[in-house]
Amino acid sequence: MRATHLAVDPKRLWSTLLETAAIGGTAKGGICRLALSDEDRGVRDWLVAAMRDAGLSVGIDDMGTIYAVRPGRDMAKPPVAFGSHLDTQPTGGKFDGVLGVLAGLEVMRVLNDAAIETEAPLCLVNWTNEEGARFAPGMTASGVFAGEIDKDWALARTDRDGIRLSDALDGIGYRGSERAGARRFSAMVELHIEQGPILEEARQDIGVVTAAKGMIWSDARAVGCESHAGSTPMGLRRDALCAFAELALGVERIACDEGPDGVATIGVADILPSSRNTIPGEVRFTLEMRHPDLAALERMDAAADRLAAAVMENRNVALSIERIWRKDPITFDKTVAATIRAAAEGLGYSCRDMTSGAGHDACLVASVAPTAMIFVPSQGGISHNEAEFTSSAECEKGANVLLHAVLALAG
Ligand code: GLV
Ligand code: MN
Ligand code: MN
Repeated sequence: MRATHLAVDPKRLWSTLLETAAIGGTAKGGICRLALSDEDRGVRDWLVAAMRDAGLSVGIDDMGTIYAVRPGRDMAKPPVAFGSHLDTQPTGGKFDGVLGVLAGLEVMRVLNDAAIETEAPLCLVNWTNEEGARFAPGMTASGVFAGEIDKDWALARTDRDGIRLSDALDGIGYRGSERAGARRFSAMVELHIEQGPILEEARQDIGVVTAAKGMIWSDARAVGCESHAGSTPMGLRRDALCAFAELALGVERIACDEGPDGVATIGVADILPSSRNTIPGEVRFTLEMRHPDLAALERMDAAADRLAAAVMENRNVALSIERIWRKDPITFDKTVAATIRAAAEGLGYSCRDMTSGAGHDACLVASVAPTAMIFVPSQGGISHNEAEFTSSAECEKGANVLLHAVLALAG
């Protein structure tokens, strides 16, 4: 078969999406497969078996990232990489990350079926802890791979139960011997769902992702004074929750002031001691802010500090914001993006350039290899939600673009 006529098998791709969705599947049709959990181990075991069945040579690095190489004619060339992540949010959908990995597997299977040999080898990758839902920050393993995150720091990160990432990695048996970052890629392409409304609203098949928002993640605390809910007059209170609430609404205003691209989210807030008749003495919370323009992101960050100082003074409650992770906005490689655009156009799919609001492993790999991304529509723009949906036909188009972009890059 001539490579130009190659196409993925949409039924096979869809059935792998449904089969793996059962690993950590939720009653509402989503997936709860937190990084390095038993469910993550289950899907990794499934993937490694499928990779071996496809004749790929599998390697695992010391951050638990899984690589599967299909040889090329010229093994001196670094492989063209593609893939994404199989970990999910606690109430995640079936497509975020998963599509990129399983479409990558489908690409390998199609090339095997058609007995096509590429010039450069190919490498399918499943990165560890992209989501950052269990261990912050996200994109941990791709960050270590790219040299942007220190490995020892990453391995020492703890989840909410105090379990270290390194112990969780050993617990599921996925700490490999290879040094994360030891491999070189000649290029990387990540297929992902858009997770926003743009493609659907514009009725377009494919997003050629040319840039991604920067982000700053923080762990924060409001510390006031626990006191009796009945006998402490309102004027004498140092209520940590009220201070937190003022900060939360202020942070929303800060993002809106930098709209429409600026976004800010408080996704976790623990109220202590969590007793209905004790005034909250402490709130521990997370804060993340994103913007595609670095100057705007820095304005938002500085505004958060000013806001915290004002709330602190008004309410006599201590507020601290500790930045734990910062990723500046990035621009993806123009040549890889052009290759993706040409693949989409060659297949007769409508496409547009776009900026990613979400973070992706590709954003980290971009600093060590020419990289760009392919987006496919998300129904209703909904993601990080069990209802997340992308149709089989849309997944098929994305996977076909991946296939042809990879073939063009690998030769
Ligand atoms: C990844 O899911 C992100 O937070 O953008
Ligand atoms: Mn993702
Ligand atoms: Mn995600």
